[in-house]
Amino acid sequence: RRSYEYIEVSEPRPGVGQVTLNRPKALNALCSPLIAELNTALRAFQASPTVAAVVLTGSEKAFAAGADIKEMAPLTFSEAYTGAFIESWSDLTTALKKPLIAAVSGHALGGGCELALMADVLYCTATANFGQPEIKLGTIPGAGGSQRLTRAVGKSRAMELILTGRSFSGEEAGRWGVAARVFPTYEALMEGALDTAETIAGYSRVAVQAAKEVVNKSQDLALRDGVEYERRVFHSLFGSQDQKIGMKAFAEKKKPEWSHQ
Ligand code: CAA
Repeated sequence: RRSYEYIEVSEPRPGVGQVTLNRPKALNALCSPLIAELNTALRAFQASPTVAAVVLTGSEKAFAAGADIKEMAPLTFSEAYTGAFIESWSDLTTALKKPLIAAVSGHALGGGCELALMADVLYCTATANFGQPEIKLGTIPGAGGSQRLTRAVGKSRAMELILTGRSFSGEEAGRWGVAARVFPTYEALMEGALDTAETIAGYSRVAVQAAKEVVNKSQDLALRDGVEYERRVFHSLFGSQDQKIGMKAFAEKKKPEWSHQ
């Protein structure tokens, strides 16, 4: 097992991998070495035969307080541009084909909020503190916040949040549909996230990957193209063993034993 400086990695349940951001002195501010470690860990989970779903969390106090302001402050335009600053954060959405659940407690600000929005499913505590405060630093969201938050909450609300830098609570995140579920405590949040990951890990990996792929397409394609894309993938699953296994087990009133083929 690799050793990491800024994250912890574990497999707390059958089929479930967990990454815990662990830079407590900076409230899990997302410095470049932390992102590099996160990418390494996610690639390892993607390649792992034992992991089928992943939970990403921080501490009770902070999911992540944003990009590292001290690291960013002296950057020049040309350094940011030619160094593709922040671009590698997207590995989270491109390299990982397995479902990712973000379990958010405490601060999820700036890049922390954006990181949470990149997850496939977002769970949080009622007191979680989300926001895009970049405007207060003389800049704007740089890891997809203006796009993903707007899709999640609608234009007027996203505009208000991004232009004022105002925070919103986990309770609001639940009401607005940013979070799929809201929990009263950090312990309940982690239980809930791990339960869901374990449930997903119990299904056919072929079907799970296809399901994630087609839902994500809905964010990029027009409705007609998305529905057509879904139908193509749906048709292709008739070529999987697990479709036969799942439907035969239903007919026989048995629990399916997935081949993951
Ligand atoms: N970058 C670097 N260091 C950070 C940080 C960040 N984003 N957030 C917190 N820290 C550090 C603080 O500097 C402090 O370190 P020191 O003890 O060495 O001074 C430590 O973490 C603890 O922070 P505070 O003392 O400020 O803790 P608090 O409980 O009083 O306040 C907070 C918590 C409200 C989250 C406050 O830390 C804060 O406002 N942080 C910045 C939030 C922010 O603006 N995030 C957006 C960053 S820009 C971005 O993310 C760009 C993008 O889109 C990719």
